Amino acid sequence: MDFKELVQKRRSVRKFTDQEISPEALQTILRSALMAPTSKGTRAWHFIVVDDKPMLEKISMCRELGSQFVAGAAVAIVVLGDREVTDAWTEDAAIAAVTMQYQAADLGLGSCWCHIRNRFMENGEPSDNILRFLLGYPENLTAECVIGLGYPAIERKPQDEDKLKWENVSIYKP
Ligand SMILES: Cc1cc2nc3c(=O)[nH]c(=O)nc-3n(C[C@H](O)[C@H](O)[C@H](O)COP(=O)(O)O)c2cc1C
Repeated sequence: MDFKELVQKRRSVRKFTDQEISPEALQTILRSALMAPTSKGTRAWHFIVVDDKPMLEKISMCRELGSQFVAGAAVAIVVLGDREVTDAWTEDAAIAAVTMQYQAADLGLGSCWCHIRNRFMENGEPSDNILRFLLGYPENLTAECVIGLGYPAIERKPQDEDKLKWENVSIYKP
């Protein structure tokens, strides 16, 4: 599959089989994230890999909605940025997260982004605080998202070529 096809076939997957992800595949995904571009080359992200089922369940409850699929993932990767090192930590973390998603798709894995930054529980508690309590990461790190990974239990259609929003593209003419 070339990159053009991969981009079309990658879709968010929230239902996974019980098949484990091999250490080699996981390493390939993390390697790709560690090669992602960052502002000023700071590479100030941190990735926490979780495959422990009880912890996956706890992580899946860090939001009222949108995080439940993490409970059924084989692995979740919590993507954090260091606010003290770079003001572009959100962009850097997001790019690394998406890079992992494309690498996962290339390996036949499904993935989905669970957003954490600026997400709050009904009682006002930030989802990031919940993850910090669960995983024990320091104050300088903030979670951008959690990427849930696993072998897809459902088949998703590729992106529909006819529904691309070409109207959102304009060409500057001098
Ligand atoms: C910044 C961002 C935040 C997202 N947050 C969530 C989320 O919290 N929960 C979830 O299930 N999906 C989340 N998604 C996945 C989107 O819902 C999904 O990418 C979108 O519906 C398009 O579908 P596709 O990925 O299959 O093309 C997020 C995606 C992005 C890029």
